[in-house]
Amino acid sequence: MLGNFNYCNPTKLYFGDDSLKNLSTELEKYGENVVLIYGGGSIKKNGIYDEVVKILERNGKNITEISGVMPNPTLEKLYEGVEIARVANADLLLAVGGGSVCDYAKAVSVSVNCEEDPWEKYYLKFEEPTCETLPVGCVLTMVGTGSEMNAGSVITNHEQKLKIGHVFADEKIMPRFSILNPKYTMTLPHYQMVAGIYDIFNHICEQYFSGDDDNTTDYIAEGLMRSLIVSSRIANKDPKNYEARSNIMWTATWALNTLLKMGKSGDWEVHMLGQAVGAITNATHGMTLAAVSLPYYQHIMPYGLKKFKRFAENVWGVNAENKTDEQVAQEGLCEMEKWMKELGLAMNISELGANKQNIDDIAKATLILDGGYKTLTPEEVFEILKQSI
Ligand code: NZQ
Ligand code: ZN
Repeated sequence: MLGNFNYCNPTKLYFGDDSLKNLSTELEKYGENVVLIYGGGSIKKNGIYDEVVKILERNGKNITEISGVMPNPTLEKLYEGVEIARVANADLLLAVGGGSVCDYAKAVSVSVNCEEDPWEKYYLKFEEPTCETLPVGCVLTMVGTGSEMNAGSVITNHEQKLKIGHVFADEKIMPRFSILNPKYTMTLPHYQMVAGIYDIFNHICEQYFSGDDDNTTDYIAEGLMRSLIVSSRIANKDPKNYEARSNIMWTATWALNTLLKMGKSGDWEVHMLGQAVGAITNATHGMTLAAVSLPYYQHIMPYGLKKFKRFAENVWGVNAENKTDEQVAQEGLCEMEKWMKELGLAMNISELGANKQNIDDIAKATLILDGGYKTLTPEEVFEILKQSI
């Protein structure tokens, strides 16, 4: 470990199939005005809404709702939610849903008392809140983003064709508590389940594929990836398998709750490419990552060959005997491709609605970062997107 870092993650987790019973304990800590935030209605169909509302009522809370938070929440929706939370004089923002709902609650939290425009301040200038923020709690129903235990919040601005994530530095923006019941994820459609699985995998890769030092974090990352591969194969065939779904849920949280970033610069270029694809197509986040990953990793492999070889051996079990480093690394990516196809992930951006004419726009919207093994040039971004079509 060569880096210097501080580590603090204040989110309290309640995990397991009876975890919702702890909501009351948490509610006691906050005032009476709760803004309940949820998506397009899945929680009404599967009964989670009724369960949560019952607990809120039993605790004497005034409930105001922000419903209809869409996947890839938009700036317009953020403005709407900020107004609702202001009028409600919110004491707690309770997000019940997936990453979109949870990210959105954090965006509302930092914007309610902010006099500046949140898009300008947080998503273009990447400033930190200078106003009072509201506490966020989360009941998670979709697994993937890690938003339940991190300070990330991604907002899409369709007018500007931009989808931008801000990972806030202030730990206060992380959910104060998150309730993780693997059973809640069982009603997810297969498409969302596997998109979430790939999102998790890629979060680990983004942090793993950086740095050359011998780093404990990399060994943790390999263990998480191996567990995810095993559980995802089980869940893919048997989505009701509680053990597999529960492992996937737990892995998702650890994949992006700041632990794996310790001592690492982090690559995150797949996410930059995926977010730019998402800004144009509004496609499901995990699928946008899957669609650009292989062309990207093929491209950077020569620059991080040692790590790609290690990935092949330690994550995919490739036997390195009598093979060149390139051959081993290549076999690792082949194994990864097989697994991605097995799950039924999007393997190119055309499947997500992008076409050749969009590549220019997507390339322009792709932020170029410098934490990985190769800082891309704009031409390379364009080339990778062409390969992803
Ligand atoms: O809106 P409802 O009706 O609830 O339906 C949702 C939505 O359509 C549905 N769903 C969720 N739980 C369900 C369910 N359907 C049936 N049963 C359930 N139990 O699933 C759909 C997708 O939900 P969404 O919350 O959009 O998915 P996800 O968790 O993947 O979140 C995606 C957002 O998170 C951002 C992404 O960019 C995207 O905007 N990310 C946030 C990150 C962070 N905070 O650190 C990092 C990630 O890399 C990511 O960028
Ligand atoms: Zn992601």
